[in-house]
Amino acid sequence: MIKEERILLKNAGKINPLSINDYTKAGGYRGLKKALAMEPVEVIDELLEAGLRGRGGAGFSTGMKQRFTSESCLRCPQRYVVVNADEGEPGTYKDRIIMEQDPHLYLEGTIIAAHAIRSSQGYIYIRGEYQDSIEKTRKAVEDAYKKGFLGKNIMGSGFDFDLEIKLGAGSYLCGEELTMLESLEGKRGTPRIKPPFPAEKGVFGMPTLVNNVETLANATRILEKGKQWYRQTGTDTSPGTKIFTISGQVNKAGYYELPLGVSLRELIELAGGMRNGKPFKAALLGGAAGTFVDSSMLDEEMSYDNLKKKGATLGSGAVIVLAGEDSIARTLINCLRFFKHESCGKCIPCRVGTAQLLISARQLNDTARDKKKLLGEMIRDSGLMAATSLCPLGQSPILPLKSAARYFEDELCGLEN
Ligand SMILES: Cc1cc2nc3c(=O)[nH]c(=O)nc-3n(C[C@H](O)[C@H](O)[C@H](O)COP(=O)(O)O)c2cc1C
Ligand code: SF4
Repeated sequence: MIKEERILLKNAGKINPLSINDYTKAGGYRGLKKALAMEPVEVIDELLEAGLRGRGGAGFSTGMKQRFTSESCLRCPQRYVVVNADEGEPGTYKDRIIMEQDPHLYLEGTIIAAHAIRSSQGYIYIRGEYQDSIEKTRKAVEDAYKKGFLGKNIMGSGFDFDLEIKLGAGSYLCGEELTMLESLEGKRGTPRIKPPFPAEKGVFGMPTLVNNVETLANATRILEKGKQWYRQTGTDTSPGTKIFTISGQVNKAGYYELPLGVSLRELIELAGGMRNGKPFKAALLGGAAGTFVDSSMLDEEMSYDNLKKKGATLGSGAVIVLAGEDSIARTLINCLRFFKHESCGKCIPCRVGTAQLLISARQLNDTARDKKKLLGEMIRDSGLMAATSLCPLGQSPILPLKSAARYFEDELCGLEN
């Protein structure tokens, strides 16, 4: 059976997360020391060549994003680093594990990123409900200032960087990077039109690097151990590990750090197998804004590119497992209810579309309806939403919907015997 490979979580449960001394004794802030001895552009190249991809969902190259941010608007007086610690995707709690068990790990990655893009001010935007993460991060920031890892002349390098913590207030949409920047500026959490991207015009109109907590934790390890070491784990185009959070019909739901490229079957086995030996039916990969897969996908490599090629998503690494008796329609209704609730209402296709999709999904249980026609209409409507909505939230319902229809059309249309 596959074993966990704890590269990011190597300290989890082993050190006191409130002790900076424990972290430094375990090798902490060595990556930062190395980074500060390098030119910013060399740090970016290291991350680029390591092949690190953003763990917030989209899997975009972290080095490329840093390069764009560091090269845009050279006359701007400031560039910012914003840590996305809002973690609102259903079924996802991997950032919480890092923040609660080893907060300096992502703090160190944040300071490294700031040096790479020559930023002197950063923000950590943490989900307001994550009380423990907030407290641990606060303590970590406080101690990092005391030890000279934050503030003026960090580790005697001449580099200055300040970091502030901001709290989210329960909106899923505020995890979307441009909405987060609005919220950081003290405005209502509704999205901005993209482009411009944050790298060009982010918070307070300045170039801004937005990275996920797990991405920054990876950056720490890469600087500490080097790109060749990092590339030994995972696949060629998706190097490194991923913290998967698996829930639903498995015996040991929880978080597991595994090399990218692991199969769903291996992950389920590691999570103790199917609960009470029930038959596997489906998994929802990547949360509500993710895709359903059936048993034909159990042995596929879970890497960014392979899943994309197969019409699935890795997303945040959430895996929700369904067994034989579970209803696909009910799970779909849950996803659509979530989107309706979280839609900010700024644009009509999403405001009306999310409400209508939920009504239609509930009608899938209505025996008097022509369900095949209804499902076809739902897919058409979600396609229209994807084409016309202002932000990615309105572009998301098509993902679970289309994939559910792809694998479970007969069940959804009541055509199964
Ligand atoms: C509706 C919505 C919610 C999102 N929520 C999160 C989140 O909670 N955490 C996160 O890191 N990224 C979230 N994202 C993705 C961010 O917009 C952004 O791509 C990410 O923070 C970039 O970081 P990365 O390059 O390190 O992955 C969300 C995107 C959308 C559309
Ligand atoms: S797509 Fe939805 S969440 Fe995004 S701006 Fe439009 S209404 Fe708001």
